[in-house]
Amino acid sequence: MEFRRKDLLGIAELDPDEIRHILDTAASLKEISTRPIKKVPTLRGKTVVTVFYEPSTRTRMSFEIAAKRLSADTLNLTVAASSAVKGETLSDTAHNLEAMQPDVLVIRHYASGAPHYLARRLKCGVINAGDGLHAHPTQALLDLLTVREAKGRLDGLNVAIIGDIAHSRVARSDIQAFTKMGSRVTVAGPATMLPPYLESLGARVTCSLEEAVAGADVIMMLRLQLERMGQMFLSTLREYSRFFGLGLRHLELAQPDAIIMHPGPLNRGVEISPEVADGAHSVILEQVTNGVAVRMAMLYLMIGGEKA
Ligand code: CP
Repeated sequence: MEFRRKDLLGIAELDPDEIRHILDTAASLKEISTRPIKKVPTLRGKTVVTVFYEPSTRTRMSFEIAAKRLSADTLNLTVAASSAVKGETLSDTAHNLEAMQPDVLVIRHYASGAPHYLARRLKCGVINAGDGLHAHPTQALLDLLTVREAKGRLDGLNVAIIGDIAHSRVARSDIQAFTKMGSRVTVAGPATMLPPYLESLGARVTCSLEEAVAGADVIMMLRLQLERMGQMFLSTLREYSRFFGLGLRHLELAQPDAIIMHPGPLNRGVEISPEVADGAHSVILEQVTNGVAVRMAMLYLMIGGEKA
C-alpha cells in the first residue's frame, strides 16, 4: 500500500487501512533502534526541519532521533532565539525555511489550524506535531501502536481517557483514532473540562473516574494543563486529585491486565500517583519508545520508501 499524502495534519483524514499501514511500518522500523548501530541510509539526502512554537521534550526529540536513525539531515528552529521574536510571521518564517529546500517541516504551534494553514501554502510536506487544542496525530498513532503491542488488537477494547479533556489535543486525536479502529472510548473529567462535542466524536461521557475505569482494558490519564486554563476550570489541585487522580485502588475496577498510559509530561501526584505511573501496568515509557518508531514511519512513508 502506498501512502499518498503530502502532509499529516490529523487522524480524522486517515482511514483505518492507512492507520494500519503506518502502524505496520512503525513496527517493522522499530527494530532499528535496538541495533548496536542505530542507523539506516533510507532517507540519506533528505532534510527534516522541526519548528516548535510551544515547549516539547518527547515529540521534538523523537522526531529528531527518528530522522537521524533514517540518515536524514535535521534542522531545529529554536523559536525563542529566532526572528519570530522580532515579529516575523508564521507564514514568512515557514516560506523562508522552505526556501532552504527541506523535504518535511514538522510544526508544533499554539494556534489550532497553524499546520493546516502552512500545508496549503508550502510545497514540502507538513507534519502536525500538536496544534493548539486541536490535534496531535503522531501521539495518537504511537498510542495505537502501544495498545496493539500490549493487547494484540485494537478492536473491541474498552478505552478510558480521563482528565483535562477540554485542553487536550491528545484526547481529541485519541478518541478519533481508537473509535476508528473499533474500540469503545469513554471519557471522564470534571464537568468544566468536558467540552460538548465529545459524543459527536463517538465517545461515551461521564463525570466519574470510577465509572470510566470499570472494565477498562486501557486507561489513558491526561495532564492537567494548568498553563492553558483560568480559575474557572477547577477549585483546588487537591480536590481535582481526590476525584480524578488515578491511584492503585482504581486498578481493581479495571480489567486485570489493564494498561496505564499517559502522553506526558506527568503531574505526579495530581492526575496519576507515582505508584501507578511506575507500576507493573504502566506502559508510559513504551509510549515514548514507540514515538520514535511512529515518527520514523511517518518520515519514511512521506519522503522515502515508495516515493524514494
Ligand atoms: N506527549 C507530548 O506531546 O509530549 P511533549 O510535549 O514533551 O512533546
